[in-house]
Amino acid sequence: MKIDVLTIFPEFFLQIFDFGIIRRAKLAEIVKINVHDLREFTTDKHRMVDDRPFGGGDGMVLKPEPIFAAIEKLIGTAVRDDYPAGTKVVLLSPQGRPLRQDLAKEFADVDSHVVLICGRYEGVDERVNETLVTDEISIGDYVLSGGEPAAVVLVDTIVRLLPDALGSDTSAENDSFSDGLLDCPHYTRPAEFMGMKVPDVLLNGNHAEIEKWRRGKALEKTRLNRQDLLEGEKGEM
Ligand code: ADE
Repeated sequence: MKIDVLTIFPEFFLQIFDFGIIRRAKLAEIVKINVHDLREFTTDKHRMVDDRPFGGGDGMVLKPEPIFAAIEKLIGTAVRDDYPAGTKVVLLSPQGRPLRQDLAKEFADVDSHVVLICGRYEGVDERVNETLVTDEISIGDYVLSGGEPAAVVLVDTIVRLLPDALGSDTSAENDSFSDGLLDCPHYTRPAEFMGMKVPDVLLNGNHAEIEKWRRGKALEKTRLNRQDLLEGEKGEM
């Protein structure tokens, strides 16, 4: 998988992809991540990446020209219908489709080329969205100052789902959300810590009982913190 990030703050990403699973995936050449400074794609003297909104209002809007130039360079064309198969151009914005585990799974394809455009909170010229973007994605119902943290979140959720990115094949299957529930609690040694004991069932080696306990705890946690995840599943409860 190849990921290109387009941003006006390239320094934001200096180390952020150099830890843990993402670093390992990069070293194993499961994914290649490149960060590009949008300013490099300007052609005017002042290297302007943004301008005031037509119609008035606060803040600045990212200009279309540098983004079109960047897409042309990175993909080979700025015509959406001519993108090679497996190409995704994502605009990170609070107006996008909400990022959920199933959406991350759709993106986790080793052969694809994903270009992430980090918007600013005031906005991006809508012609970018209308003609270049294949997916507008939001990481949640809150407003960030820019799409950079959202791009990091999206890259992390996708890369950990790529085959061989995680140490063991089963770890992603047991994640929260992969079966529509939150994850169950986990414990490690010591079995007793400051008088607090690990549940007995986890120590007795009975795997069927452990599985049942985990499912029960996952349900309990989901009921407590995310009732909304259970609404669609009522029939099964
Ligand atoms: N940019 C600003 N807010 C955002 C959000 N919630 N998700 C994605 N990109 C954003």
